[in-house]
Amino acid sequence: MRRRPLPGTDLSLSVLGLGLWAMGGKYWGPPRPDEDAVATLQAAVDLGVNWFDTAPLYGEGHADTLLRRAFGPRLKDVIVATKVGVRWRGSRGHAESDLSPAHIVEDAEASLTRLGLETIPLLQVHWPCERGTPLAETLGALTTLQTQGKIQHFGLCNYGPEALAEARALAPIVSLQTPYSLLRRELEGPLLSAASGLGVLAYEPLCRGLLSGKYTGNPRFGDDDQRSWDERFQGHRLRHAQSLTAELGRIAARVGVPTSAVAIGWAIAQPGVTAVIAGARTPQQLRENVQADRVAASAKVVEVISRVASVLGGGFRGSIAPGGGRCEKSTQGREHRRSLGLVRPPRPCPPASSPPPPPPR
Ligand SMILES: NC(=O)c1ccc[n+]([C@@H]2O[C@H](COP(=O)([O-])OP(=O)(O)OC[C@H]3O[C@@H](n4cnc5c(N)ncnc54)[C@H](OP(=O)(O)O)[C@@H]3O)[C@@H](O)[C@H]2O)c1
Repeated sequence: MRRRPLPGTDLSLSVLGLGLWAMGGKYWGPPRPDEDAVATLQAAVDLGVNWFDTAPLYGEGHADTLLRRAFGPRLKDVIVATKVGVRWRGSRGHAESDLSPAHIVEDAEASLTRLGLETIPLLQVHWPCERGTPLAETLGALTTLQTQGKIQHFGLCNYGPEALAEARALAPIVSLQTPYSLLRRELEGPLLSAASGLGVLAYEPLCRGLLSGKYTGNPRFGDDDQRSWDERFQGHRLRHAQSLTAELGRIAARVGVPTSAVAIGWAIAQPGVTAVIAGARTPQQLRENVQADRVAASAKVVEVISRVASVLGGGFRGSIAPGGGRCEKSTQGREHRRSLGLVRPPRPCPPASSPPPPPPR
């Protein structure tokens, strides 16, 4: 698999990284056997994936345990990108960001212990603050961790263009992790300009499996699966996604790859994207997804995918994080968690952060 340099670092990332949220096992339905996750992680390295995106929140530490189980002391030979700043149970009983310097340090040190690493290659702020901590204080704590050698580089996730520019003026952040797929296009626009020169790590390229094309009917998920309240899996948004994946499936058949590879490959090939993070829970899913590199390498195929998507329309282009990641104590945190799928929306769903796409033309 091709690799691309992460600007401002000595790291070179495979164009596809493996995300551990679903493997970690929270908000993704009944837990699957750890053996599947370990086999998937080990297969990833054999297939050319050299980096893994985890977070303390993913299974409340379980994702990190899986990484350690899969690689043992060899974990230092792959690139671990993890996150910092979310309390599993915050003041209101659910996950909540706390970017105070004390929590940043405590959270990072807990990750080092769980992972059995002496240093973390890339530590990312998981989501914008909800408790009023000035950005400079959060970045100051990260800079101290870097000076101490506990982390090599740091970046942000889910910040909007203004807060990103503010952060870049304060500290040497190297990356922005942000959602991006054929169905989520917020990156295209001011955010991409604000991230110019940074590593852009695009997450959720399959829309939680929707763009693999496997949901041809009305999928049913249990209450413990965030897809049961994800509006993209319902009504006209689902039908729109299905008409898109039907077209992607035709392209996939022509190229001789699975539909998931078409969706992921398109994201890998987009301007400004350094690498894409997709989740996979079995070696078979991963074997399908790594074929995305072949798709991304063909400008002609990527152009056809773009054209099909633009004809079908509907890529959401709203704000990434309500408030754009500016540090404000407000109710925006709940909206942001909702956009990440961590809380259920009230019914009927408010359109503010995720307006439905126009119906397919
Ligand atoms: N920074 C942040 O705030 C943030 C937020 C979200 C995600 N992320 C990162 O991005 C990673 C990827 O995002 P994501 O996992 O949420 O979404 P995703 O990559 O769009 O979807 C992954 C899911 O799609 C299904 N899938 C994967 N490959 C498939 C295939 N070939 N065929 C059929 N189904 C397939 C699997 O679920 P099933 O087996 O259940 O169908 C898998 O768990 C996460 O793991 C995490 O590391 C970061």
